[in-house]
Amino acid sequence: MKVAIYPGSFDPITYGHLDIIHRGLKVFDKIIVAVLVNSSKTPLFSIEERKKMIREATKDIQQVEVDSFNGLLIDYVHRRKANVILRGLRAISDFEYELKIASTNRILSEEVETLFLMTNHKHSFISSANVKEMAQYGADVRELVPEHVARALQKKFSE
Ligand code: PNS
Repeated sequence: MKVAIYPGSFDPITYGHLDIIHRGLKVFDKIIVAVLVNSSKTPLFSIEERKKMIREATKDIQQVEVDSFNGLLIDYVHRRKANVILRGLRAISDFEYELKIASTNRILSEEVETLFLMTNHKHSFISSANVKEMAQYGADVRELVPEHVARALQKKFSE
């Protein structure tokens, strides 16, 4: 069985991420969506909230598992006995950041490959960061994230 690890902050999951999961399943039998716990970024949503939102967004896709990890991604990839990391590329501006991550992981392990898939152009400019910024000021983000995520954002910013 071909398994890929799709790591990220997913704070929160967007249609861009879901597009990568759907595309990834054309190549892999199973995708493990792995939420990073110990990020240097300060998240809006807790790990449990993020995992719950991803589970809800992927509830009709059996080949998706949602998990979280601490520490180095490469150690997690080995623990899960996978050898491919899946990442999405939106615009050229993502490239330098992704190159750094993929190159670091290659230094740490030659056996693990990073595979990049391009998001649909409709999703090229969606990021969790701009979704949060829009939601913070009351904009309607339902075109960018699933309904339950939009509701969770609205609730978070009204607390
Ligand atoms: O969604 P993000 O925040 O762009 O995802 C970044 C992520 C989680 C893939 C990356 O920060 C990561 O893998 N961090 C874990 C620590 C690690 O393995 N560092 C070495 C590679 S940079």
